Amino acid sequence: MKTNIALIGFMGTGKTAVGQDLAEKLDKKFIELDPLIEQKAGKTIPEIFSQDGEIAFRELEIEVTKEVAEGKNQVIACGGGVVLNKINIDRLRKESLIVYLTASPKIILERTSNDAEERPLLKAANPSLTIQELLRFRKPFYERAADIKINTSKLDIDAVVEQIIMKIKDNEGFNS
Ligand code: S3P
Repeated sequence: MKTNIALIGFMGTGKTAVGQDLAEKLDKKFIELDPLIEQKAGKTIPEIFSQDGEIAFRELEIEVTKEVAEGKNQVIACGGGVVLNKINIDRLRKESLIVYLTASPKIILERTSNDAEERPLLKAANPSLTIQELLRFRKPFYERAADIKINTSKLDIDAVVEQIIMKIKDNEGFNS
């Protein structure tokens, strides 16, 4: 029986806010991968990207995902690129139901426009175009990984959490 929920999806789809609330409602532990990666590296994510490069970041992400994936009774907010390495999803799937949060490129741009400093991939000359290109490339990875999919564009945090709780109830093999 799976007892974790792993939230995947692009930056700005609400993984962190939804994850915190969902964990509280289901009485599970909330875990976010990005801060654990920062702890392991001893530096911030923008520093990892600028000093060591994206590949080094992805290697740390693989290590941290492996450690967290084995735990039980957790809501795990993954970084937007966790799906890029299949090994992450294979490991997460063992104990986690995978919930994919989506949002339109326009909404993602709105939600992320204030914190480009924290998200090195969006620190681009044309963030709107970057979002569209990354989304186009990543969509099949997200789709393939997802057990449950929720479009968050028109929903607030409470409504997303409510939908997740409703949908996981139908899922055999998951213990909420
Ligand atoms: C990334 C998303 C970020 C963070 C890093 C890379 C991505 O996490 O892991 O900047 O590749 O989409 P959030 O999705 O929590 O912003």
